[in-house]
Amino acid sequence: MPDIHLPEVELNIHTPKNTAEATIVENYVCTAENSPNIIRHITFDISGTALEGKFRTGQSIGVLPPGENEKGRPHKIRLYSVSSPTKGEKGKKHLVSTTVKRANEEVDGTFYLGVCSNYICNLKVGDKVKVTGPSGKRYLLPTNFQDFNYVFFATGTGIAPFRGMIMELFEQGFKGEAALVFGCPYRTDVIYPKYFSEMEEKHENFHYIKMISREDRRPDGSKYYVQTAIDDRSETLTPILEKENTLIYLCGMKGMETGIYWNLAQKGFLDYLDLRGDLASKSPLEWSWDEAKKLIKPSARTFEEVY
Ligand code: FAD
Ligand code: A2P
Repeated sequence: MPDIHLPEVELNIHTPKNTAEATIVENYVCTAENSPNIIRHITFDISGTALEGKFRTGQSIGVLPPGENEKGRPHKIRLYSVSSPTKGEKGKKHLVSTTVKRANEEVDGTFYLGVCSNYICNLKVGDKVKVTGPSGKRYLLPTNFQDFNYVFFATGTGIAPFRGMIMELFEQGFKGEAALVFGCPYRTDVIYPKYFSEMEEKHENFHYIKMISREDRRPDGSKYYVQTAIDDRSETLTPILEKENTLIYLCGMKGMETGIYWNLAQKGFLDYLDLRGDLASKSPLEWSWDEAKKLIKPSARTFEEVY
């Protein structure tokens, strides 16, 4: 396994107390079709700020929504993964993109709107917005990226960093194997479907796997989730996961990590995991779900961003 060299990054050039002003230059729905799960591709122009050229793919940008919460305190910053490559959206270092889902929820018959995601999704081209960052120092592609293969697991907007990373890898002539496993509820919710399907047609070393959870069931009645692809699409994933120089990245909803780690362990891919407590002394077949949740951490080969 080659050493993993991560790039040096600059962090928190702009902070919540010292935000930069960005201008919206793009805001469009980026799912396969219109869906109640509204997800938008947003591009910020950060020209003339100290942030220009500073966001690496894998990092996040902070957005400060205006106004106050119910306690009369100013709203807090929310983080959004950068979905553009390091060189900037469309190759322009003053443009940085993200992928935002409107966070809405009904609880006990009351419908709540997420403050910041709806604020961003409602912004129009030309509107100004307060931003911070960059944030995140490990969730990055290695500088020696050609030394590795990659399996990317994304649920929902967890796709954001992988859009940037996959653009970056293939624009630089990536030679290894890369697989993207993307999970969402319905086919209408697939994010950036055209881009990834075209990438799969163009590059035989890029594999695009969609796991749609609410349309069909697996033969045992369970849902198709990103982690079930380790079994359901093993013809594609096993040969990549077996290579000693493969890295895995996962991004999306909190909780997805345990399922992925559990399924990797059951298939014997223990090198992606850092087992704490007495887990390593037992067979994965004897683990309980609760101990797996508590005691499995990502190893050096695994990069995790869940929220
Ligand atoms: P909030 O106002 O914070 O509300 C959160 C949820 O609670 C909403 O669903 C809302 O409907 C519900 N709610 C509000 N009030 C109540 C109440 N009184 N009772 C019950 N429920 C209530 N998100 C993305 O979309 N894309 C990304 O790329 C992305 N990247 C991220 C990267 C990182 C590192 C992290 C930490 C988070 C990331 N997020 C991303 C999540 C994002 O930061 C926000 O958490 C998300 O947009 C929700 O924020 P909000 O202000 O819209 O919702
Ligand atoms: P489901 O909600 O049908 O259980 P989105 O963010 O657009 O809602 O998509 C998240 C996707 O991740 C959905 O398909 C969701 O399925 C799925 N999902 C839910 N829980 C888990 C989990 N623990 N591990 C992996 N995927 C999950």
